[in-house]
Amino acid sequence: MLWRAMNRSLELIRRTARAVLPDEVRRRLRYAARPLAPDLMASACAHSLVTPLNLHLLHELVQRLGRLGIEGDIVECGVYRGGSAAVLGSAMLGLGDECPRKLWLFDSFAGMPAAGEQDGEFSHTLKGTYVGSEQQTRQLLEQAGVPGGRFQIVTGFYADTLPTVEIPRIARCCTSTATSMSRTS
Ligand SMILES: C[S@@+](CC[C@H](N)C(=O)[O-])C[C@H]1O[C@@H](n2cnc3c(N)ncnc32)[C@H](O)[C@@H]1O
Repeated sequence: MLWRAMNRSLELIRRTARAVLPDEVRRRLRYAARPLAPDLMASACAHSLVTPLNLHLLHELVQRLGRLGIEGDIVECGVYRGGSAAVLGSAMLGLGDECPRKLWLFDSFAGMPAAGEQDGEFSHTLKGTYVGSEQQTRQLLEQAGVPGGRFQIVTGFYADTLPTVEIPRIARCCTSTATSMSRTS
């Protein structure tokens, strides 16, 4: 598997770097790319529309927040069955508790809404597709070891839910929506 080979290479680079680099660089490497657990990756892939490579990139993007010292919560709009959410949650935990963050998950779990006038032909074929599952999402987050207090699932259409929550600071917001109704509502 490509991602197993990638994980092995990253581990080798990390070990070599630890052995030869000065203290300052080693400190920064504390947040260097850590591999995603293979069993979590397998479950995430089974419940995500996101490609394995892009799930790895999501994982890396969250770890980068630690490396760059960017504080704040992580938000995902478009959760579906929780595959990418579990990856985000796992990576968030890997950052440690120096900067306690929360994962905010927004979805109607009712699938894609109707496309708008600005949308292309393809978007108009999506209405009602990608119906997700809040329960499946909770299961994956549990498998990823994300404690209940570290994530919040906000169920409903963005237009209704986003104005109701106050997130003090957002470090990263991930959206995976394909229509203007999803993006702007
Ligand atoms: C492409 S899927 C998300 C993929 C997911 N991140 C994964 O890991 O596979 C899009 C999701 O966005 C949700 N969604 C789209 N537009 C929405 C809206 N306006 N309000 C709430 N949820 C919405 C759908 O219910 C669906 O679960």
